[in-house]
Amino acid sequence: MSDLEFPAFPPGFSWGVATSAYQIEGAVAEDGRGESVWDTFCRRPGVIRDGQTGDLAVDHYHRWPEDVELMTRLGIGTYRFSLAWPRIQPAGSGAVNAPGLDFYDRLTDALLAGGITPMPTLYHWDLPQPLEDAGGWMARDTAYRFAEYAAIAAERLADRVPMWITLNEPFVVTAYGYALGIHAPGKTLLLDALATAHHQLLGHGLATSALRAAGAGEVAITNNYSPAWTASDDPRDVAATTAYDALHNRMFTDPVLLGSYPAALSAFGVGPDGPDCVRDGDLAIISAPLDALGVNYYNPTRISAPPETTAAESPLPFELQPITGYQVTAFGWPVVPAGLTEMLTILARRYGDKLPPVHITENGCSVADQPDDRGEIDDQPRISYLDGHIRAVADAIAAGVDVRGYLVWTLMDNFEWAEGFHQRFGLVHVDFETQRRTPKASFSWYRDLIAAQAGSRS
Ligand code: FCB
Repeated sequence: MSDLEFPAFPPGFSWGVATSAYQIEGAVAEDGRGESVWDTFCRRPGVIRDGQTGDLAVDHYHRWPEDVELMTRLGIGTYRFSLAWPRIQPAGSGAVNAPGLDFYDRLTDALLAGGITPMPTLYHWDLPQPLEDAGGWMARDTAYRFAEYAAIAAERLADRVPMWITLNEPFVVTAYGYALGIHAPGKTLLLDALATAHHQLLGHGLATSALRAAGAGEVAITNNYSPAWTASDDPRDVAATTAYDALHNRMFTDPVLLGSYPAALSAFGVGPDGPDCVRDGDLAIISAPLDALGVNYYNPTRISAPPETTAAESPLPFELQPITGYQVTAFGWPVVPAGLTEMLTILARRYGDKLPPVHITENGCSVADQPDDRGEIDDQPRISYLDGHIRAVADAIAAGVDVRGYLVWTLMDNFEWAEGFHQRFGLVHVDFETQRRTPKASFSWYRDLIAAQAGSRS
């Protein structure tokens, strides 16, 4: 058990939690919600562990008052959640579904009444299926549809929402969704999927101006970052690491902050102007000024060059290697708090005065939590993970990085994508049979930390 002797974070530093719509809401066929790519994908045999789906998820659509109550008990200042595009615009374009907007309107008001600032993400992976049928993020038109939806959401909520996040982890959508087929929509386009990177970024840029035109205050994008560690000093491994870093960390950040694609994408056959689908003027739209950068961090990645014998079969100029010598989470992810400090200082060095203030928009770990015979969940590995990573944020701030907030992934156990209900990331345990919520030891620990930080400033 750690003590709560943390360095005091800067005044105004915001503590909170994050969730996403498909992972918690359920109610997939209620109140006019349209189908998303995740509804469709989950019905494909063999893609989700044990064939599980988000049909019910953790029933947040009905239990949200209880969930907001849990957040007020936690004492958080910020709640990051996502709006389900298919609830608001069931076909992904055209008609607006009023009950969908009403749901987020009520949630926003309840949060504010509880002293919690809402931080909505517009797109956390649940693309309306009709848009996927028309090409999804492979189609340029989807970027324009995204901006239209952003304007609809902002017209309703911008008077009460100070900061908007456009996209969540577009790298994962491109890599898992369109290149490898591990996530919805399950395409296996390999490097052809890079068009989805550009179209998501274009969507981000168009949505940024649509949000501002509809009265939104601050706008951010959230990427997941992972320090790329070379497996050795062999120049081939070093080159592979540079290529991977360009794909994972730079492809969705350089265009936004610098207005250009990284040259190292050439390892993937990408020219200096970016993927082939880039048109004149796109990068100016994509690099519209931003108010914040959302950073999600889970672990570093270790990279080597691919064995020369397989180069002909694999178009990828890198290979992922296991990271050994660290504890791992229940997901098997290495626990490396210093990687977060490293990543934040890389971002500060790389982008200099072009780097807007940073918010840690997700960080957390999966633990195989089970209630003990008194019904309590003593999740010491999560406490230790959060303790280490929060200290890592403090180290980055001490090194001069402007970090303004930290959000734990996640409030409560939920539907973890291809892993179904098998990975528990919550501060609150959810019995997936009864939907009963039980705060874990980490919930009390985080509540005390937030209270101590508030006290240390007063
Ligand atoms: C991130 C996702 C989030 C959750 C965590 C564990 O990549 O944004 O939805 O699944 O991983």
